[in-house]
Amino acid sequence: MTDTAIRLADYLAPSHLIESVALTFRLAPEATRVLSTIRFTPNKARPGSHDLRLDGENLTLIAAAIDAVPVTAEPDATGLTLPWADLPEGPFTFTAEVEISPATNTALEGLYMSNGMYCTQCEAEGFRKITFYPDRPDVMAPFRVRIESDMPVLLSNGNETATGPGWAEWTDPWPKPAYLFALVAGDLIAHSASFTTMSGRPVALNIWVRPGDEGRCAYAMDSLIRSMRWDEQTYGREYDLDVFNIVAVDDFNMGAMENKGLNIFNSKYVLALPETATDDDFARIEAIIAHEYFHNWTGNRITCRDWFQLCLKEGLTVFRDQQFSGDMRSHAVKRIEDVLTLRARQFREDGGPLAHPVRPEEYVEINNFYTATVYEKGAEVIGMLKRLVGDDGYARALDLYFQRHDGEAATIEDWLKVFEDATGRDLAQFKRWYSEAGTPRLKATEDWADGVWTLHLEQVTPPTPGQPLKHPKVIPVALGLLNGNGDEVLPTTVLEMTEAKQSFRFDKLATRPIPSILRGFSAPVILERATSPEERAFLLAHDTDPFNKWEAGRALAKDLLARMVTDNASPGPDWLDALARVATDDSLDPAFRALALRLPGEDDMAQTLHASGITPDPARIHAARRQMADALARRLQPELAGLIDSLAEPGPFTPEARAAGRRALRLAALALVTRTDGGLRAAEAFRSANNMTEEVGALACLLDIGRGQSELDTFESRWGKDRLVMDKWFSLQILYAAPEATAETTRRLTDHPAFDWKNPNRFRSVIGALSGNHAGFHHASGDSYRLLADWLIRLDPLNPQTAARMSTAFETWARYDADRQALIQAELDRVLAAPGLSRDLAEMAERMRR
Ligand code: PHE
Ligand code: ZN
Repeated sequence: MTDTAIRLADYLAPSHLIESVALTFRLAPEATRVLSTIRFTPNKARPGSHDLRLDGENLTLIAAAIDAVPVTAEPDATGLTLPWADLPEGPFTFTAEVEISPATNTALEGLYMSNGMYCTQCEAEGFRKITFYPDRPDVMAPFRVRIESDMPVLLSNGNETATGPGWAEWTDPWPKPAYLFALVAGDLIAHSASFTTMSGRPVALNIWVRPGDEGRCAYAMDSLIRSMRWDEQTYGREYDLDVFNIVAVDDFNMGAMENKGLNIFNSKYVLALPETATDDDFARIEAIIAHEYFHNWTGNRITCRDWFQLCLKEGLTVFRDQQFSGDMRSHAVKRIEDVLTLRARQFREDGGPLAHPVRPEEYVEINNFYTATVYEKGAEVIGMLKRLVGDDGYARALDLYFQRHDGEAATIEDWLKVFEDATGRDLAQFKRWYSEAGTPRLKATEDWADGVWTLHLEQVTPPTPGQPLKHPKVIPVALGLLNGNGDEVLPTTVLEMTEAKQSFRFDKLATRPIPSILRGFSAPVILERATSPEERAFLLAHDTDPFNKWEAGRALAKDLLARMVTDNASPGPDWLDALARVATDDSLDPAFRALALRLPGEDDMAQTLHASGITPDPARIHAARRQMADALARRLQPELAGLIDSLAEPGPFTPEARAAGRRALRLAALALVTRTDGGLRAAEAFRSANNMTEEVGALACLLDIGRGQSELDTFESRWGKDRLVMDKWFSLQILYAAPEATAETTRRLTDHPAFDWKNPNRFRSVIGALSGNHAGFHHASGDSYRLLADWLIRLDPLNPQTAARMSTAFETWARYDADRQALIQAELDRVLAAPGLSRDLAEMAERMRR
């Protein structure tokens, strides 16, 4: 593995730059011809006599020439080298004609077909499957593209500059790296709108979908318009082409892609009607539309020098889409949800064999580094920077970033330098957040004497693969102090921790304060502090910081659940009463109350137990969590019916946050009622539901108590033709299967005629759900481990990227007992022994193997 690794330290500037690119596509399913004309010029930043290496994979070379002189060099498996001796001294024109086969491209990288339409995916290294090219982000060029095809709609990047029967020409004036190239050709219909930018330029907006889906685009379009306005108002960033196109495709490995002027989306994140999409779907559509749109400045106008800098665009763009969603919805609720995801995905990754820095230093396959660490921790790091330099400093730094680096391929060093130059701060120590992996543990203890309260903090980051030793990081710790009446005696103050151990003094206090530490989750760390249940209940009732208020309830539940698992404790009145008060407090946002009622997940609990030195038993965690839900259901029983009725939404469905929050609380209450009424109310809610949130929510309640068979049948006959809705039908049955029935249920569903395993969404909704059922996946028989490995081995030859992603289900093996460890290791070995294993899956399995 190490011999094929690519290293940041080995970076060399490109030997040649590109002045312009012209491409012609003659589309045919199994024999598309791609003609390219590329104007190269030697790169002055890399003097010397260099061969020109062009990347190229799975291409049939028909002809190539340099300034009309035929090229005699033969391509190898990964590209074509043009020897220095054959290159003219100054600029020259390279032309090539190649043949490719989109119809047989199952990896969904490069040019491929989905439901009869042509589309592309070039990030990270897909352009090399389209033609010979220096496929690296620091080579930027303006593109002109001619598409020849009978398909009615022909799209590429930029503006349409000419068109005729059977062809269209697109010109993108903005220099871009090849990974942002896109082409679409198909029988599509547009949902259109227009936007006028802040300087008065009109922009045509189109969302292109398959005929029949045009009625499901309104929410995505509305989200796009709000994103465009928000980026003008918040970051001063204006759109820069005459048209912005979005295309929805059914076969897509990821969520969406920010190709210049032509975003391509997984249809799951575009198409939505109240009857087909849940509130979570709506929220995700809003966030992803915004994310891809925001990339136009953070990613496209300023791109990455190399793939090690991926967090430069992704961390920043996630941070921006989180800000946007907070502004559109509720900052408090958004923050809690983001931290839940961060802990579930990134802390999990950071604590296991796949841990890597936000800016990795080596990789074998770059597709394996589109991770929670690069994206979500990358966004947290920017949040910390903003907290440290303040809102004004952040705004000045971002203005400088856009001004200084527009049109460039930049690095994390460039990014930090604009903060240093704009604010005068030295960020040398802060940079460790980019270079060191692992989640710091922050231990807090306190002293109280003579009106002086002292907070002692100690930070320790455990070793991660390849990084045994860690250094102290800059940790912004947002702190507030309350007195015994719940009054705030110290409003939120950001302490800057820079040492391994540090103390902070607060004097002139009348009584011993109750601290609220790490407000708003001001740093991505694990806070360790011995706290009594009384104190947690007090903070749950009184903390003025909504995140820490929720966190107190969460910690209370986790402490209890841990004691139930390890000591057979049972839920006592302290937790039950505290939670009941929040659930029924009408002065609180229903969305917040719904989050407070959500019990800690089983995987989360396994992670927490492991972090405190206890080997988690998945079956016990599962049983204890159900017992906890039962106790809560009994305690709240007198209130639940009233709560459900009071939250009924009069009037037509709206996806906005207020209404969604009420539905979330209503469903949380319904889930509890279901545990005491045998499913009566949930069955009724399923029958009367007029939106997917409630339909699927009620169905989940029933499945959770082992019922809902007839509802599943009704659902299937109602939605059998709707791919996106049927994905929910598949995954629900697996997520709610009993531990001993999870593998069997999954196996049965893989035999269902609608299980199209080559479609990534469907594969994820079934095989992805298998590992989403914690107790079922980790069932002691090892059946689920085997089933997952079987499917990884089967999918890998067709779609290595999705197979490699899904293999991360095994990343937590070290948490569990010796038997489970051995079972998982055996499956990883079986994967590694599969003939013709892809580089993607091989790298993942090797990193996870003991
Ligand atoms: N750049 C895309 C995004 O985050 C993600 C992506 C990566 C999509 C690789 C496809 C392939 O917005
Ligand atoms: Zn992105």
